Amino acid sequence: MTSKALTVPAVALGTWAWGDSGEAGDGYFGSRLSASGLREVVGKAHSNGLTLWDTAVAYGMGRSETALAQALAGCHRGEYQLSTKFTPQLAGDGDDPVGDMLEQSLDRMRTDYVDLFWIHDPADVARWTPSLIPLLRSGKVKQVGVSNHNLKEIALADQILGEAGFRVEAVQNHYSLLHRSSERAGILAHCREHGVRFFSYMVLEQGALTGRYSPAHPLPEGSNRATVYNGILPRLQELTDRMGAIGKDRGASAAGVAIAWAIAKGTTPIVGVTKADHIDGVVRARGIELADEEVAELEALADAADVDTRGWWENEM
Ligand SMILES: NC(=O)c1ccc[n+]([C@@H]2O[C@H](COP(=O)([O-])OP(=O)(O)OC[C@H]3O[C@@H](n4cnc5c(N)ncnc54)[C@H](OP(=O)(O)O)[C@@H]3O)[C@@H](O)[C@H]2O)c1
Repeated sequence: MTSKALTVPAVALGTWAWGDSGEAGDGYFGSRLSASGLREVVGKAHSNGLTLWDTAVAYGMGRSETALAQALAGCHRGEYQLSTKFTPQLAGDGDDPVGDMLEQSLDRMRTDYVDLFWIHDPADVARWTPSLIPLLRSGKVKQVGVSNHNLKEIALADQILGEAGFRVEAVQNHYSLLHRSSERAGILAHCREHGVRFFSYMVLEQGALTGRYSPAHPLPEGSNRATVYNGILPRLQELTDRMGAIGKDRGASAAGVAIAWAIAKGTTPIVGVTKADHIDGVVRARGIELADEEVAELEALADAADVDTRGWWENEM
């Protein structure tokens, strides 16, 4: 039994920030999102062929999945793809914590299958990976991937799935101009060689690489992302200015250039869109081809900024 090759749009859309919506106000992102605004995001995304939605129970303890389902209500299930995750740290104590977490996600998302199901982090690869096999066999999960796994952990997960006739179809890691550990560790090359899709998350560094935020206009006060990024914004200025200039010639913003860079590197960015006009930015980015010299120049400026944006949940690769 082998899974069908994974076909997905050139850019996936992320909904971690959507887990902030409906709550008191400033959560991880400090975003104030409305149900009607998110419906508008979905409508615009789908009409532009952007139909793959990434979420996780961990994003607002189910609130992101719920907000996504509300925004997708009325769309035909065959029109879009859902990607969600098993987060080992949130495992229950039943006989099948992976299956249980999936069932709860299916419930919240009002569906009976997910297109992509991930092990969110490599807490215990040998323990959790086998639980994916019955979910693949049942059809509740179409494809599986691993997130935040290093090369050795990817190989172990692939071996476990391989024994049952399946495989790791996709890898999802933090990969941006500022954080290229997966490339340095050979994970991008491994994915290229084996026809495994590499999904890059946080290509915009949660807003810090969009050009919209600067020392004069910092990320929303009180949010977690402000704590992480506001202190380093001055060191990013030269890079984001150059990204803005490269984008300007193509009618795009710095954010568009960050997304185009991730595509140029052979990855599928997962962009955490929160507003309908972000979709316009993604569509423009999808059409940009960066020259090799531009890629090299941006990477040199990113290295010169000398910042460490590894997330608190991430290991060294
Ligand atoms: N597997 C994992 O461990 C893991 C970890 C992190 C993320 N992810 C996935 O990857 C997705 C992306 O990461 P992320 O959401 O944390 O951060 P991100 O995509 O780097 O940045 C998202 C922020 O950038 C701004 N933005 C988004 N699209 C834009 C555009 N086109 N133009 C200008 N600004 C734009 C928005 O800020 P404003 O709202 O302030 O405008 C948004 O909140 C997540 O949503 C999640 O699905 C996975």
